Amino acid sequence: MAVGYKRLSLNSGLKVSPISLGTWHMPRLPEKDSAGAHKIDVDEFRRVLRYAYDEGVIFIDTANKYHGGISPVPLSHAGYAERLLGRLIRELGLDREELVIATKVYARMSPGPNGMGLSRKHIMWQIRESLSRLQMDYVDIYYAHAFDKDTPKEETLSAFNDLVHQGLVHYLGMSNVPGVHLMEYMKIAEERGYEPIVVLQYRYSLLEKDIEKDVIPVAQRFGAGIAAYSPLAQGILTGKYVDPKEKKWIVPPLSRATYMEWITKRYFTKENLEILLEFMEIARSKDVTPAQLALAWVMNMEKIWGIPIIPIISVSKLQHLEEAVEAVDIKLSEDELKHLHEISSKATFGYPW
Ligand SMILES: NC(=O)c1ccc[n+]([C@@H]2O[C@H](COP(=O)([O-])OP(=O)(O)OC[C@H]3O[C@@H](n4cnc5c(N)ncnc54)[C@H](OP(=O)(O)O)[C@@H]3O)[C@@H](O)[C@H]2O)c1
Repeated sequence: MAVGYKRLSLNSGLKVSPISLGTWHMPRLPEKDSAGAHKIDVDEFRRVLRYAYDEGVIFIDTANKYHGGISPVPLSHAGYAERLLGRLIRELGLDREELVIATKVYARMSPGPNGMGLSRKHIMWQIRESLSRLQMDYVDIYYAHAFDKDTPKEETLSAFNDLVHQGLVHYLGMSNVPGVHLMEYMKIAEERGYEPIVVLQYRYSLLEKDIEKDVIPVAQRFGAGIAAYSPLAQGILTGKYVDPKEKKWIVPPLSRATYMEWITKRYFTKENLEILLEFMEIARSKDVTPAQLALAWVMNMEKIWGIPIIPIISVSKLQHLEEAVEAVDIKLSEDELKHLHEISSKATFGYPW
């Protein structure tokens, strides 16, 4: 396996690739459908999946709600990413048992009162739907996609525990749950002898390090791994939104910011521009691309925190994945990590997540 493999967490035996391929956004065509969703470039995504599999990027991330070419996803488009992923895995003849497939539950999937959330009713419905769309008998990892304040934590954990015992799910994860609630879920699972939560999926990049305060300590306490999403800060850390000569922000044609306008509002600040210019210079001096340096930073932070950290990326071109695969071998010293931490500590945001 070109990229090698590692343990997902200290509290499970599951092995995964050191990077994961996400499907929130997929390669897409310029054309949009009547709902404003980009049509997916299925041929390019097929090439991406083939390359991922051949290079050993076996860890694939999806969610019941994802479409791949629009966010937020209208109900009419929910589930397309799982369906396409399942279809292409079959078409390409990839060995399902070699893959580690993660999906998620929480987001609204139908209009009724039980059409979203983490109740037993919704979870039991959605696992069947996800498995059917993916054309699979089980998923390797099932995440709670967000916190559901209306459902008792015991109910969610007991339903999750049942899914593992029914063989529909092998491992459990949590995503986006605020630290204090996350700690409660973890403790309840431990005290009741339920299947443990082994992976925490949270936003983590050089620009957005909030989880260092409240989620990483929970992961350390229980030995869970971190699946770090948006490791390129939605693409900002690739440097493609910066014109280095003019020292100004730009929006390249077809980039994600062209259809998710909050990206420019959130990231295009004066302070972040300065950070990016310095960051791009450091990447150049190391003879790597900014995207590679950003991914390497996430992967190398596990030396600091002592728990596995796996970045999940989306790609809109095969070349993005090729670049990411090369980043797996980049080693950063503690001094380099410290320097990158320092230059990025002045990050500011013009719009909340
Ligand atoms: N649990 C959650 O709530 C949650 C939330 C967000 C994401 N996720 C998961 O994490 C995955 C990754 O998140 P993300 O998509 O925000 O990650 P990201 O890696 O921060 O951003 C990926 C985007 O950056 C651009 N890009 C990637 N490589 C590039 C390169 N080498 N050069 C130039 N541009 C490049 C592409 O956008 P362009 O289209 O602009 O080219 C790509 O779609 C998702 O697919 C999903 O599976 C989970």
